[in-house]
Amino acid sequence: MARILLGVSGGIAAYKALELVRLATQAGHAVRVVQTEAAQRFVGPASFAGLTGAPVLTSEWEHDPARGAFPGQALPEHEPLSHLALVAHADAYVVAPAGANTLAKLAHGLADNLLTSAALAATCPLVIAPAMNTHMWEHPATQANLALLIRRGATVVAPTQGALGSKGEWGMGRLAEPAVILETLAATLADAGRPGPTPGPWEGLRVLVTAGGTREPIDAVRFVGNRSSGRMGFALAEAAADRGAQVSVVAANVALPRDARVRYLDVETAAELQVACRAEFAGCDVLLMAAAVADFRPATPADDKLKKLGRANLVVAMEPTADVLAELAASRAAGQTLVGFAAETGAGAVASGREKLERKGLDAIVVNDVAGDGIGFDASENEVTLVTADGAEHIGRSAKRDVAFAILSLVERMRNGATVRD
Ligand code: CTP
Repeated sequence: MARILLGVSGGIAAYKALELVRLATQAGHAVRVVQTEAAQRFVGPASFAGLTGAPVLTSEWEHDPARGAFPGQALPEHEPLSHLALVAHADAYVVAPAGANTLAKLAHGLADNLLTSAALAATCPLVIAPAMNTHMWEHPATQANLALLIRRGATVVAPTQGALGSKGEWGMGRLAEPAVILETLAATLADAGRPGPTPGPWEGLRVLVTAGGTREPIDAVRFVGNRSSGRMGFALAEAAADRGAQVSVVAANVALPRDARVRYLDVETAAELQVACRAEFAGCDVLLMAAAVADFRPATPADDKLKKLGRANLVVAMEPTADVLAELAASRAAGQTLVGFAAETGAGAVASGREKLERKGLDAIVVNDVAGDGIGFDASENEVTLVTADGAEHIGRSAKRDVAFAILSLVERMRNGATVRD
């Protein structure tokens, strides 16, 4: 259970903050809410007060009947300044939705309302979930404000693409789903107690990650795909950004929250992934090839939807795709580090991984037994063996973010000239 202070700024997405409060209280967190004046035009304080069981503050001039106490806490005897008391008692300050104006104020340290004053006074982790119109989101001023906040240690839950508040508008800028904001908040709270990543020589390093699984069309609506969710690749990208690297991700059909520090290139098929990787590879120092790339694709995909009527069965002829990683490795330049991933099942996994390492000309290969329950494909945990020319290191079952940490530590050791132990 944590004490969460939620700042709600003005915007249509303010209604989703109600769902966030509901999920957070359901998860056992104590929530108090601060609303800006504009936010109250979209959702009334009575709704938040009803869900949190606590007064909602809307101005720094207002008397706080709870004197900064969270639900379940004893009221202090004295009357503290509300913006100081609220954040002093909070384990995390979440601003959701953060509109473009609030984002700009947070980035530049303005304190002209209770939400922004509280942010300035906060020493707890700050989690920001922006929501705005696509053009406002893409504006260099907004992007620079975001970068500033991230550099200062704020966690940003990136908005998603889709239909926006204004009728007929579509694009980037939808508030992330409340469940995703809550998940990020949980990770931020867990991180608050942990030591930060080991600083490494990643500043200025360009890292290319492939993530997800390719889809090869059979007809206009069907495809041949695989169960890769992209979690491992995205965890690697975030871990590399944590170390200060410049990170690009070629994402094959990944429906996961995105990190505002990372550049994403979306692809669907193995051929599209190949084109994107060819364009990005020459400029990268480290390649982490986590995507599950199809080895075969339907040779003649139908333009229309195939009909069932009159067919006793359906045989789809498949043709091989290019081995993207092997092709990139063949054109590698000095100083580049290449890490492949081998999804294996059963005995002989490490030997098979080593064979791929040699055949494809890699520096390391992460061997992943995808047959285990709750690990590998579409799972949040993994258990892998890191294989290099000199040895192998087993990483027991752990969260994918911890596996990512171990993989980057190996890359760091290899780039520093050390080898892994047997
Ligand atoms: N890979 C690739 N292009 C392909 C297939 C795989 O770039 N067409 C990459 C994967 O991203 C991974 C590595 O090669 O990093 C190993 O993938 P894997 O599927 O385990 O190896 P394959 O060579 O396809 O062997 P097999 O599927 O027969 O085990």
